[in-house]
Amino acid sequence: MHNSAKRGAELTRQLLTFSRKVQSERRPLDLNQEVEQVKNLLERTIPKMIEIELHLDKTPAIVSADPIQVEQALMNLAVNAMDAMSDGGKIIIETERATFDEEFCRTHLGARPGEYVLLTISDTGHGMNKEIREHVFEPFYTTKEVGKGTGLGLAMVYGIVKTHEGYILCYSELDSGTTFKIYLPALVQSGHWREAGEEDDQLKGGDETILLVDDEKYIRELGVELLTDVGYEVFTATDGEGALQLYRKEHQRIDLVILDLVIP
Ligand SMILES: Nc1ncnc2c1ncn2[C@@H]1O[C@H](COP(=O)(O)OP(=O)(O)OP(=O)(O)O)[C@@H](O)[C@H]1O
Ligand SMILES: [Mg+2]
Repeated sequence: MHNSAKRGAELTRQLLTFSRKVQSERRPLDLNQEVEQVKNLLERTIPKMIEIELHLDKTPAIVSADPIQVEQALMNLAVNAMDAMSDGGKIIIETERATFDEEFCRTHLGARPGEYVLLTISDTGHGMNKEIREHVFEPFYTTKEVGKGTGLGLAMVYGIVKTHEGYILCYSELDSGTTFKIYLPALVQSGHWREAGEEDDQLKGGDETILLVDDEKYIRELGVELLTDVGYEVFTATDGEGALQLYRKEHQRIDLVILDLVIP
């Protein structure tokens, strides 16, 4: 009980540190500029033995994205990289253009053909074994001590990438560092601007179980209504601690966690 309260408090602290409550606002965004900005932000706090290196594409890397969410994703990844390099090391952030062809999409479940901006974050830290690698994106999965991590950082990154119709991959070997590759749809595709939602499928639900966490009653009610309407089963929680308790009890059944970025 004491532990779960502590974790709840930690969860809150983290969510508050890494997020600001704003409407999701997507606009044409140059990832090169975002990366420069995050680098400036990090350099004020980063330990001296950690170096940040950028390799940015020469042409603007334009995507349709919410700058605050992109910044949050980059910060979560950078903080993880720092945590993995307590003896120092290097974080390398790169941007480049990439194309998913049919072949790539056949071998990478969930990838859709098209042109993307690839954002790569690598570190020279302690890396992960297979067991950890297989769970990194799961909410509440952490290898850090109680009070040090909530296991939500990468779950959030994953959520952010998915809401941007993007794709994320994790490569890591024990003792030889970690690389995350994030692909976001390029806004300018072979000379024409993508129409918003051009490739979006019809809304269609499933029969999975979702844990919806939000402190605002009307959002929970709206969420339950919308999600149950399309077939999902929905649990709700109003705060981080409630969410953790529910998740501990029902994690076998819960397939997805929807989190408000700031919860009490
Ligand atoms: N760059 C990395 N190098 C090595 N291990 C990593 C790296 N990034 C993530 N991990 C592993 O994945 C786990 C989950 O990461 P995630 O960011 O989701 O949670 P966390 O860092 O443990 O906690 P939180 O981000 O909520 O503070 C980490 O506990 C760690 O074991
Ligand atoms: Mg983390």
